[in-house]
Amino acid sequence: MNTPTPEPNKQPENNSLPEYTLAQLALRNGQDRDEIWVGYNGLIYDVTRSRLWRRGNHYEHWAGQDLTKELHKDAPHTEHVFDKFHAIGRLKTPTSSVS
Ligand code: HEM
Repeated sequence: MNTPTPEPNKQPENNSLPEYTLAQLALRNGQDRDEIWVGYNGLIYDVTRSRLWRRGNHYEHWAGQDLTKELHKDAPHTEHVFDKFHAIGRLKTPTSSVS
C-alpha cells in the first residue's frame, strides 16, 4: 500500500538536480577529493561508498568522467548497477566528445 522507500534513480525530479560540467565532474575522480562521481546517461552518480570504485578506479575505468559509452562497450553488466546509487546531479555536456 504505502511505499516507504521510493526508487532513488530515474525519477522525474532528476530534472531539478543541479547541473555540473565535465570539469566539475573531473574533480570527483577519487584522487583529488573524497567524493567519487561517475557520469552516466546525462546523470551523475555518487559512488563514493562503493568498494568497487575505491580511489575512483573500477576495472581500469576512472571515475570523474562520463562513462556512458564505456558501460555499453566494456562492462559485463547493465546500467542496473546504478540502481542503488543516487543521482546527485545532471551532466551539463552529456555524452558528446570524450577527451
Ligand atoms: C571492463 C569494464 C567493467 C568491468 C569488468 C566491470 C565489472 C563490474 C563488476 C564485476 C561489478 C560487480 C558485480 C555486478 O554488479 O555486476 C560491477 C559493478 C558496478 N559497475 Fe562495473 N565493470 C566495468 C565497467 C563499468 C563502467 C564503465 C561503469 C560506469 C559507467 C561501471 C559501473 C559500475 C557500478 C556503478 C557498479 C556497482 C558498484 C557497487 O555495487 O558497489 N562499470 N562492475
